[in-house]
Amino acid sequence: MTMAYPTLPQSQRAWTFSTWGLPREILTLNENYAVPPPPAKADLLIRVSHVGLNPGCYVAMASIPPLVRRLVSWNTTYVAEGEFSGVVHLAGPAAPEHLQPGTRVFGCLPVSNLIAGNGTLAEYFVVPAESVARIPPAMDWPEAAGLAGGGQTAVNMLLGANLREGTRVLVNGGSGGVGTMVVQLAKAHGAYVVATCSGANEELVKSLGADEVVDYRANAPLPAYLAKTYGTQPFEYIFDTIGTQALFVYSPAYLRPEGLLVNVGNFEGPGVTIWRAILNTYLPRILGGVPRRYAMISTTPEGGKAAGLARMVEERRLQVVVDEVFEFEDALKAYDRMLARNAKGKIIIKVQDV
Ligand SMILES: NC(=O)c1ccc[n+]([C@@H]2O[C@H](COP(=O)([O-])OP(=O)(O)OC[C@H]3O[C@@H](n4cnc5c(N)ncnc54)[C@H](OP(=O)(O)O)[C@@H]3O)[C@@H](O)[C@H]2O)c1
Repeated sequence: MTMAYPTLPQSQRAWTFSTWGLPREILTLNENYAVPPPPAKADLLIRVSHVGLNPGCYVAMASIPPLVRRLVSWNTTYVAEGEFSGVVHLAGPAAPEHLQPGTRVFGCLPVSNLIAGNGTLAEYFVVPAESVARIPPAMDWPEAAGLAGGGQTAVNMLLGANLREGTRVLVNGGSGGVGTMVVQLAKAHGAYVVATCSGANEELVKSLGADEVVDYRANAPLPAYLAKTYGTQPFEYIFDTIGTQALFVYSPAYLRPEGLLVNVGNFEGPGVTIWRAILNTYLPRILGGVPRRYAMISTTPEGGKAAGLARMVEERRLQVVVDEVFEFEDALKAYDRMLARNAKGKIIIKVQDV
């Protein structure tokens, strides 16, 4: 059963762009952006409460020309971002019973929606029901907005790893949106976690469960420090949330021969990410390839995984670290914070009271 259509306004406020560049160059607060039509099939139209920023979105904003976006959509105006918390406002005819109007939900969008520019930094947007989960009663809106993106990315990073009690892992970037999740989930699997971060974030990362913290600035260059400190007790897994290429290149000095480095991207754009992933995965050793396994993963949102993370938060086995909550009008300040690349956990934007 769907709610009556007249409850839906025709226009809304949204942060939009129509070319490529950095947020301050191209993003504008559009006061008159069209609200999507009532959802079809099992889609949900969400009234957004909060949005979690993902650096991948501004990197994509700066590196994907509109011509490429036109390959997946006829849109010429694009809404930023892809993570959210909010309320189901309208549900498509095939939407499941537990996701009907009025339900508090959170989640993130599939990559295709992000490229098409049907983003979440707006009062309303549409998402497939399979990509969302219900927000437990004890969880607040900013926490919920910050859980899906970093949390599901961390789950996917750990998916191919056989973590047991005492498995030695290195988390590169333990204080960021993804890293804070990887540290906690790896600990939940019993791993012995060494994490990198700046000295100022050492206490935070330890409080999340890291057994050791390496200040990557004070101990630069990091690969040489790791070789010296962990060469005799190498890691089984390296979870790199930063995309530090040197970490893989020199990994034979601190990653076991059968070990695996899992990368989730970098701040330099999709071209660099794809090129490095190809080289790191396929370049034969005889041509200079690194004699260690490498995996590049990307996040496909799944409501089931989001629900599992929410359960962990509810049971106090996982926490969402929120760096700062910005007002909707201050979205550009939130992006300045993100571009500084020293967020503690997730940067959140409040869109509206729901
Ligand atoms: N593949 C996917 O599906 C997917 C999904 C989500 C995100 N991602 C990607 O994952 C990456 C991380 O995202 P995020 O949300 O975690 O980013 P983020 O929170 O914005 O990253 C900021 C953090 O990075 C840390 N940092 C910066 N340079 C570092 C370095 N050289 N060594 C160690 N830590 C460093 C900072 O630590 P300090 O302040 O302590 O220095 C800060 O905590 C991005 O490239 C993003 O695009 C990919």
